Formats: sequence, structure tokens, C-alpha cells
Amino acid sequence: MTESEPTLRLEGIVKTFPGVRALDGVSFEVRAGEVHALLGENGAGKSTLMKVLAGMYQPDAGQIVVSGRPVVMRNPIEAKHNGVILIHQELSLAEEMSVAENIFLGELPRRRWGFVDWKSLHERVATILDKLNCDFGPRTRIDTLSIAKKQMVEIARALTHQARIVVFDEPTASLTDQEKVVLFDIIRDLQRDGVGIVYISHRMEEIFTISNRISVLRDGTHRGTLETAETDEDEVTRLMIGRSLSYERNREAPDVGDVALAVEGLSCGRLFDDIGFELRAGEVLGFYGLVGAGRTELAETLFGLRRPTAGRIVLGGSEARIDSSVEAIRQGISLVPESRKEQGLVLSMNCRDNMTLPQIDDLTAGPFVSNGGEIAIYDMYRDQLDIKAPSWRQLVQFLSGGNQQKIVIGKWLAMKPRVLIVDEPTRGIDVGSKAEIHNLLRELARSGYAVMVISSEMPEVLHVSDRIIAMYQGRITRQFTAAEVNEDNLVQAISGIGPGSGGKARPIGAQAA
Ligand SMILES: Nc1ncnc2c1ncn2[C@@H]1O[C@H](COP(=O)(O)OP(=O)(O)OP(=O)(O)O)[C@@H](O)[C@H]1O
Ligand SMILES: [Mg+2]
Repeated sequence: MTESEPTLRLEGIVKTFPGVRALDGVSFEVRAGEVHALLGENGAGKSTLMKVLAGMYQPDAGQIVVSGRPVVMRNPIEAKHNGVILIHQELSLAEEMSVAENIFLGELPRRRWGFVDWKSLHERVATILDKLNCDFGPRTRIDTLSIAKKQMVEIARALTHQARIVVFDEPTASLTDQEKVVLFDIIRDLQRDGVGIVYISHRMEEIFTISNRISVLRDGTHRGTLETAETDEDEVTRLMIGRSLSYERNREAPDVGDVALAVEGLSCGRLFDDIGFELRAGEVLGFYGLVGAGRTELAETLFGLRRPTAGRIVLGGSEARIDSSVEAIRQGISLVPESRKEQGLVLSMNCRDNMTLPQIDDLTAGPFVSNGGEIAIYDMYRDQLDIKAPSWRQLVQFLSGGNQQKIVIGKWLAMKPRVLIVDEPTRGIDVGSKAEIHNLLRELARSGYAVMVISSEMPEVLHVSDRIIAMYQGRITRQFTAAEVNEDNLVQAISGIGPGSGGKARPIGAQAA
């Protein structure tokens, strides 16, 4: 390998699927020890390019060159032998198997006579798990682990096989802030060891923190590669979507209607305590806090998935008993859940059926929904949310990650709720569509919906909300109007150091002084 030869070069990669040219002659390179960010809108072809690199798809044209040598990778194991490991956007571990079995899936090291040498295998894996500070062992079953820990298993797999190129496809989408810090440390370690890293994310601040270079894909073509230090978010956004975006703060006072939802002294065990607020038709109420502040659990309680231990929920003026999600939907509450893959989508069904599913099953007491009617509903939300799919017949599993999420949002909008709760509405969604979804949520509010948005992204919550409720350890620490709130007082409020809290908010279960 000459000094200028990158660890990896992809040359003129073409990949088509029925009805979609996902990659149209993409070239891309990664140097040893660099973090190369790959950016692009939902459906731009990022994951497809990486799946070609990892041997999961065969390209229709083009070649892969590893350390100066053209290689053909017919499957992920051959890719691994060439030093390439892909950490998937949709984690892809065998759930009923152990951590060690997953790490060596398909090629367990064998002793003479073909026996698997479990002892040395477990030792090897244990050493690496230790290095990653994991609190589980090689024998732990995958289905007992959280998403973050599953991701650690994939990283352990990369380390065990001494990868030369590691691809992270949206690794932080479901990580907490602390887990993110750990991940970034691991990436820097890999970098120091001379590993070339491809990092895919829709979060600009991460891209600018971790990457050395940025390449942009758009509609399956390579639009450019930039040195991170020499560019900015605006330039990258323009390459990605062909225009600039401004994240204006929302300051206009809304024209609000009646109280749609009132919550009084609502508690649920140790998850949250004494929550009280009002949500009016016409407004967007943002809930901001750290992971674990109780926001998702509050939303689940309002949606009938958890039973409150105290307090009242008042809908449209009268007290509501919501003991199931069907009941919540009937009373006009919709929840777009945080983890859409698990709770919101049937991957093996087509786009239209995913979007219209809950209406038929749970709701329509009236006339049967016609086939044409369902397609019309799908068409409407496809246009409104700019969903990119070749047709309504496409199976959801073949859509890009962001487009899958738009299908779920469409599905809950199609139920015409009075109160729409969205938990992390733009996770995994590209910056252009993000702005569209923000505008959409605001428009929904202006047209009379009461909208509750839970978000861990401060720019998002500031941009979209008319009022903001800050939560810390299961309690509300402060409520803000859009005019009052700023980055500083919001950060204070979610760390429990707000005015009136006497320094620190009392966590649930602590003794009252
Ligand atoms: N197995 C498949 N069958 C059919 N179409 C596919 C398949 N995989 C991907 N596509 C299509 O190829 C295009 C590129 O998808 P890809 O998943 O690479 O996008 P992406 O850039 O990773 O987007 P996201 O940011 O949403 O994850 C999309 O139009 C997608 O629908
Ligand atoms: Mg993707």
C-alpha cells in the first residue's frame, strides 16, 4: 500500500432495486485513522452504499478496493475477512443467542474434531467487553439487553475481528447522552489504532464533533467531499437538500382555543409525580428533559399504556378514564411512539396497510373502509409528509429509515386525533424533512389540534413549541412560554437547578425535609 492509498475506495458503485436507482455511480474513500461522515437526505442511498461495502448487496457495477487491492465481497463474512464491519441502523443480532454466539455468528472457532472451543471464545469476548466497560458477559442472551447494550455487542464484534474499516449507521439514534460519550471515546480509540471509520448520522452537531471529512450523497449520487474544519452546517445542508434552512425560534403567540387536555396531580409510582398542566387546542406544548426524566412514561400513561397511581386526566372538560390504547384513541388521543420500529410498524406489510391499519381494526364502527379510500388516505399523507416510496405497494422494510418513520407519523395523523402526542418526532429524520415535520406539527396545531411534543433535542423543542415544560427526575421543574425560554434557563430547569427549587428538585422517593 502506497502512502497515499486509502484503506478503502469505492469506485462507481451502481445499485438498483425494482423501481429505484438507489446508487448511481458513487465513488467514496476512507483513509486509515479518519472518521469520514456520510450525509444525505432520507433515501439518499447511505445505508445501501454501506450494505454494498459489507457484502450484503452485490453492486450492479463498480468496484471495491481495500488497501489498494480490488475485492469482491459476496457476503458479510467475506467482508469481515477483508476487515470491514458494519454496525447497522436496524440492529441485526440474533435475539435468542448469547453475546459470544452473535459475535462469532456463522464461523465459531473450532478445535480439532470440530468442537467449538467455548472456553477460549468466552475469554476472548470477555476481555473485549471489559475494555468497553460493559456490565454484561459473553453468555448473556441478546434479548435481555437494551438497545444501547446491543450496540455495544456490535462494537465488540468489530473489535474482536480487528476490523480495518468500521461503519456506524446512525449509531446514536437511541442512545442517552452518557452512552453517546462512551461511543465517541470508542470511536476515537479506533481512530488512534488506524481504523478507518464511516459515520452516518442526521445530527449535524455530532458530525462536526467527530468527523475529519464529510461526504454528501443526494439521490444516489456523490455530491462532494469536504474537510470538516473548512466547512459549516449551512454549506453541508445546501449540498444535501439544495437549499439553506434557518432554525428560527418560535415566538409568535398562538391563537389558542379551549383546554383539550388537563392533567392534575398525575403520578405513576416512581416514574413521575404530581404532574399538572393544561394543553389547549391550537398550541404545541413541548416537553424537554434528560432521558429518564419521565416524559415518555407520562405520554404512555395519557395513552392508556400505564395506570396512574394518583391524579386526574380531564379531556374536553370531563374526567377521562383511559385504561387502554384503544380507549385513548376512541377519546381522541394519539401517540406516535418513541421506538417506531418496535411499536409502530409492521415491516412485512406495505406502506398503505401500515398507515391505515389501526383505523380498521380499532376504530371503524361505521361503514367498511374501501380499498380506494385507504389509497386516498395514503396518497394524502405521502404528499403532505413527502414520503419517498415507489408505490403504496412497497413493503415498509424496503423504505429508508426516515421514510419508515414518516409512515408512522402519517398513520397516527390519519386517525384525526384531538390530542396528538409525539415522542421524539424527528429521530433519524434528515434536516430537510425535519423542518417539514416541524412545520407540519405547527400547522396541525393551528388547524385546531392540541399537540404535545416530547424531544431531547433543544433546537427542536425551541423551534416547535409555543410553551415548554421542563422535567427532571419525574417532576415538572418549570413551565415556560416561548418568549421566556432561552438555552440557559432551559438547561438549568432540566438539571433540577431552577429558581424556586431551592437548589435541587427533590427526586421521587426522597424524604421530604
Ligand atoms: N432492499 C431494498 N429493496 C427495494 N428498495 C430499497 C431496498 N433498500 C433500499 N431501497 C431504496 O433505496 C433508496 C436508498 O435507501 P437507503 O436505505 O440507502 O437510504 P438512506 O440514505 O440510508 O436513508 P435514511 O437516512 O432514511 O436511512 C430508497 O429509495 C429505498 O427505498
Ligand atoms: Mg439509512
